[in-house]
Amino acid sequence: MNIHTERLLLVPLGPQYLLSTHEYASDLDNTKYMVHLPNADIEETKTFLDRAQAEWQTSNPQFYEFAILLDDIHIGAVDIYISENNSEGELGWIISKKYWGYGYATEAARELISFAKHEWKISKFIAHCDSENVSSYNVMEKLGMSIANKTKGRKNKYSNDDREDLMYLLEIE
Ligand SMILES: CC(C)(COP(=O)(O)OP(=O)(O)OC[C@H]1O[C@@H](n2cnc3c(N)ncnc32)[C@H](O)[C@@H]1OP(=O)(O)O)[C@@H](O)C(=O)NCCC(=O)NCCS
Repeated sequence: MNIHTERLLLVPLGPQYLLSTHEYASDLDNTKYMVHLPNADIEETKTFLDRAQAEWQTSNPQFYEFAILLDDIHIGAVDIYISENNSEGELGWIISKKYWGYGYATEAARELISFAKHEWKISKFIAHCDSENVSSYNVMEKLGMSIANKTKGRKNKYSNDDREDLMYLLEIE
């Protein structure tokens, strides 16, 4: 299942992208606002990639992890977790810091939303981020999402701080 955008190609993420995934998944600049990252070692990244690949191989995946390729270079990932009754998709994204600021996350997520709408008839999308993760909520706003909830008690993996979580929502016809 490949998705083309103007500049990017989205392909199933799996262990063939181990080194390029680990580079951003273990980098603190890249992961300081994330709940499940950074990964402590390459084994942790491998476990995640094996799980992503296994999910791709099920008959009815509950989540889809895409590698984002730019001219065949793996620059990040975008994903969607689908609720049990297919009513809602939760989006996530990460771009290797060398490639920040070129509109790649927005472009990849926009096409994934369109794909999910047409292929899986999903019309409600949510995304969460740390309230200080300006780049991430800017992506949400560029996608047309609006803030729907703000809650305390978010825990990012790299620190024990009690963080604030923003939830954004997009409903399309
Ligand atoms: C959040 C993250 C994925 C954004 O990735 P990105 O590819 O740099 O995001 P975009 O380029 O689409 O948007 C960022 C900037 O690019 C600029 N930009 C340049 N060209 C653009 C284009 N063609 N289209 C849209 N924006 C463009 C925008 O002005 C935008 O600036 P802004 O943040 O001041 O609004 C990235 O910062 C990241 O990986 N962060 C760490 C991981 C993370 O926190 N993930 C989210 C967890 S909730």
